[in-house]
Amino acid sequence: MVTVVDHPLVQHKLTIMRKKETSTAGFRRLLREISLLLCYEVTRGLEITYERIETPLEPMDAPMLEGKKLVFASVLRAGNGLLEGMLDLVPAARVAHIGLYRDHETLQPVHYFFKAPSDLGNRLVIVVDPMLATANSAVAAIDKLKEEGATNIRFLCLLAAPEGVERFTQAHPDVPVFTASIDDRLNEKGYILPGLGDAGDRMYGTK
Ligand code: PRP
Ligand code: URA
Repeated sequence: MVTVVDHPLVQHKLTIMRKKETSTAGFRRLLREISLLLCYEVTRGLEITYERIETPLEPMDAPMLEGKKLVFASVLRAGNGLLEGMLDLVPAARVAHIGLYRDHETLQPVHYFFKAPSDLGNRLVIVVDPMLATANSAVAAIDKLKEEGATNIRFLCLLAAPEGVERFTQAHPDVPVFTASIDDRLNEKGYILPGLGDAGDRMYGTK
């Protein structure tokens, strides 16, 4: 299942992020802002339990999030741009880091780091990475999380290519995808068109 978050605020901010003249500082700030709105959507439908509380006027059964704390799994580096804002909204979430980069020639993911809470099987894991291009990185990240015991996973990105969505949903049909846009296509170097360029480079001012 793929959900495109077409909220006007998300779309407006995304347009500014796409502009080539947007500065590194502006790009980072917008990614953080947009992550708050995307977090709201990706956590929709979380289970609720009721707790007996007392307001200053009377007792009531009030809704609270049910179950173990969420895990946000950031695919390094660019995933951290979404992670920061999501932690503002869900400060008690646990965090996993998955170090992967795309080999520029083969477009295959190269693993360099993995650290996650040990009890992944008992928690909802929300994987965050701004870009779903060939989906090689996202598929590898989720393969690894499943190997480590995760069973309840959602994937959140900012931009997706139709080719990536197709590959991802075939590889992991049990993992719902949330994105702000499905763009037109990939170019011959595996970049999303029209896209926004290299998300990690734009966030950190690297090349
Ligand atoms: C980018 C992006 C994804 C990946 C997407 O990371 O953040 O992880 O590319 O491409 P794919 O769907 O074709 O695998 P990159 O490898 O550039 O690493 P970085 O975040 O360290 O810059
Ligand atoms: N990774 C990026 O950062 N941008 C793309 O367009 C594709 C992969």
